[in-house]
Amino acid sequence: MTQPIAKVSDIIFIRFELRDLEAQAAYLEDFGMTPVHKSDDTIFYRGTGTDAYIYAAEKGDTDTFIAAAYETDSLEALQALAASQGVEIEDGDAFMGGKKVCFKDPDGLGIEVYHGVNKVDAVDENVPVLNSGKQKNRLNKTQRFGDGAAEWSMDDDGTMRYALPSSVMRLGHTAINVKDGPVSIQWYHDVLGMIVSDNIIGPDGNVGGAFIRCDNGAIPSDHHTLNVVALPPEAEPFHGTFGHAGFEVEKSLDDLMAGHFHMKTTGKYVHEWGIGRHLLGSQLYDYWRDPAGFILEHWTDGDLLTADQAPQDVSIVDVIKGQYGPIPYSSFNMPLPTQALDEFRQTVPGLTEMLITAEQTHKNKKGVS
Ligand SMILES: [Fe+2]
Repeated sequence: MTQPIAKVSDIIFIRFELRDLEAQAAYLEDFGMTPVHKSDDTIFYRGTGTDAYIYAAEKGDTDTFIAAAYETDSLEALQALAASQGVEIEDGDAFMGGKKVCFKDPDGLGIEVYHGVNKVDAVDENVPVLNSGKQKNRLNKTQRFGDGAAEWSMDDDGTMRYALPSSVMRLGHTAINVKDGPVSIQWYHDVLGMIVSDNIIGPDGNVGGAFIRCDNGAIPSDHHTLNVVALPPEAEPFHGTFGHAGFEVEKSLDDLMAGHFHMKTTGKYVHEWGIGRHLLGSQLYDYWRDPAGFILEHWTDGDLLTADQAPQDVSIVDVIKGQYGPIPYSSFNMPLPTQALDEFRQTVPGLTEMLITAEQTHKNKKGVS
C-alpha cells in the first residue's frame, strides 16, 4: 500500500446548496439537530456532540450536495493536501474556525479537510441504563426519554402524535454513488488515508464498492466513515452523487425509535428504509428523506475497528438484507425529488430482484441449487 498524502481522523459535517432553507431547517429540527445559526442565506446545525456544526446549507437556485468535511490532526497533512491538489489553505468560517483545504474527488464530489477547528461543549444528556434478560442494571428507577409520557397527544380522529425527536449527536459517515469503485477506493486511501473495512463484491464477482474507515491506528474508528457505491454504466446520471449521510443518535435504540415515531407523526417526510440492523457495521438504522430529496439516516450501536483489522470481502447481498429489517426500495441512495420517487420505484428494477439474482449467482458459484 502506498503511503497516503494525509490521514483524516473523522468526518465533521456535510454541506449543501438548497432552494428552500426554511423547509430544511424544520426538517433538521424534527430530525433532532439544533440550530447554531439561521439566516435567509445560510443555516448551520449542530448535534449534542462537540462539533461546532454537523450540517450546513446555503441558499441557491438548485438542490445540490456541495461537500463532505473531514478533520486531520496534522497541519503538515493540510499543507501536503494543498500542494498535491493544487489549492490554497483557507481560513474556516466563524463557527468552525481552523484552516481548511477544498478540492474534489474523482467523481467531482466536494471534499473539505480541516485542521485546528473549534470544538464546543457537548450537551450533557443522561445516558440510559438498559436492563436485558440476563443483566439487570437499572433498579428502583424508571426509564424515561425526554419528559416521558408528556410528549404525545391525540388528534380528534385518534391519530397519535409523538413530539420527542431523536438526539442527534454527530455525523458518522456518508455514502456516495461513483462511476468506478476501485478507482474511488484507491483515491480515498491515497489522498485521505482511509482503509477498507469491507470490499463489496457484486454479482459479477468484482469489487463494486466498499465500506472504508479512518486510519486512527490503535484508536478505534467507526466501521465506515464512507460507503463507496459503484453504479453500473446505465445509471450514469447518478454517478458522482450523494447517497446518504448517517448521523449517530446519542441514546441508543430508544432514541432511534422515538425519532422514527416523531418523524412519522409529523406527516411531512418520506420514510426511505428501516428500521433494521445492518450486517456490515452492525448499526441499527432508520432513513428519512429531507424536503429536497436527500437521504439522512439515524443510526446507533455501530462497530468500531482499530487499524490492524484486515479488510473482508462481503457480498452485495449482505448490504441489502442486513441482519433484519425490510428490503430497501430501488430508490435507496438515489438523490431524487420526493415527487419523482413513485415513478422511479416502479420503473427501476427493485433491489429485491437484484438480491434474488445475486444470491442465485453466489449459490451457483458454490454449486448449490
Ligand atoms: Fe448509512
